[in-house]
Amino acid sequence: MTEPDVERVLLSRERIETRVCELAGEIAAVYGDGEIVAVGVLTGAFVFLADLVRHLPNRVRFSFLKADSYATGTYPGALSVTLVGETDLSGRDVLVVEDILDTGRTLEGILGILRRRGPRTLRTVVLLDKVSRREVAISADFVGFPVPDAFLVGYGLDHAQRYRNLPYVGVLRSEAAGKSS
Ligand code: XMP
Ligand code: MG
Repeated sequence: MTEPDVERVLLSRERIETRVCELAGEIAAVYGDGEIVAVGVLTGAFVFLADLVRHLPNRVRFSFLKADSYATGTYPGALSVTLVGETDLSGRDVLVVEDILDTGRTLEGILGILRRRGPRTLRTVVLLDKVSRREVAISADFVGFPVPDAFLVGYGLDHAQRYRNLPYVGVLRSEAAGKSS
């Protein structure tokens, strides 16, 4: 079933399930049997994170972060990051879990801030990568799917806080993208 505001399904529930399971295998191959601190970027990453970690054989501690950027005029502004859960990242193997990499500015800011906490390793996994939109030189260590430049909803991604619980990733109709409620 699709929502009226969803133009088409880009990634079905089944494709996502298969790829998330594969991603967990790729991650486990890198970390061996070491403990990971998974840092989920709120809010969009919560669905992906929950599915991914249940396929990981490693011991996992959890932290969540909320990133807020203080835009001043046209300047993107400083990023402030609030961490909850496991906040001691010093000497730990930290894996940032994000829903989508777009311009790359958010992830770049987050990594800069987390690096100051002295993790032993700092890696990133994103479900979706809008490769063509990149504005800073950054790539994720693990990528679920490269995706086209369209407004995507579902599987954690929202439009005006809706659609996060759709089990698939869909393309939002452009008429709907302009609406805010
Ligand atoms: P940057 O540009 O800093 O932004 O890489 C990444 C953040 O932008 C949001 N984003 C989206 N959210 N559908 C969404 O629901 C999209 O198609 C989309 N593209 C980018 C997202 O919050 C991500 O963390
Ligand atoms: Mg996000």
